[in-house]
Amino acid sequence: MSDDRLIVALDVPNALEGLALAEKIGDAVDFYKIGLGMLTGGGLALANELKTEHGKKIFLDMKLFDIGATVENAVRGLAQFDLDFLTVHGDPHVVRAAQEGKGGKDMKILAVTILTSLDRADLDASCYKAGDVQDLVEERAAKALTAGADGVIASPREAAMIRALPEAEGKLIVTPGVRPAGAAKGDQKRIATPAQAIADGSDHIVVGRPIWTAADPRKAALDILAEMASPQAKQPNS
Ligand code: C5P
Repeated sequence: MSDDRLIVALDVPNALEGLALAEKIGDAVDFYKIGLGMLTGGGLALANELKTEHGKKIFLDMKLFDIGATVENAVRGLAQFDLDFLTVHGDPHVVRAAQEGKGGKDMKILAVTILTSLDRADLDASCYKAGDVQDLVEERAAKALTAGADGVIASPREAAMIRALPEAEGKLIVTPGVRPAGAAKGDQKRIATPAQAIADGSDHIVVGRPIWTAADPRKAALDILAEMASPQAKQPNS
């Protein structure tokens, strides 16, 4: 068993490439994220194969958002697959509907607070209310957790603040926007290193491009795992 705190985002175009990448990484990684980009490329079939044939854990990153009845139906359908994590947007009506839809299934509903690729200027463009991004993340996280989310998705820069919320006790914090020192940021804006993210209270980190664009994805994953196990990962706000 590898350290399942590392979740690798399989953001490649289709299931065949996703499977090839997971096979290349082999036993170094136990947890994979399948996102919207792969939905029309066999993403659910890949989820099934990775789970049943390879024993991997699966995070289906659908970021569902709709009226409650539609979210509930979508989650009821998805609950028939053997999924470990599923994302919805953190609006309380969406979170409540998702919990209804999942029934008794042990599939964690994770609420998206504010996408880690967005900054204040982006929020202005989307008509979000005024205020610091961190404060809005804190407010959305608290409301989503109160509505019944099993955890939240947030930037690693916000992990410590969310971990301190009374609403977050016993809940998961999952953080994308993680970059080893020196790695390209891409479109991510609110980033931190793997060690910082873990030190600040992330239960799981999600890493995509630094692994799947690497010449040797297995080595890239092993380097990140080594950093997560290092002493820096044990010092909050290092
Ligand atoms: O390549 P990179 O490491 O930036 O990939 C991050 C992954 O996490 C992507 O699949 C992206 O869709 C996802 N994600 C994110 N921000 C969120 C939720 C999910 O970047 N708030």
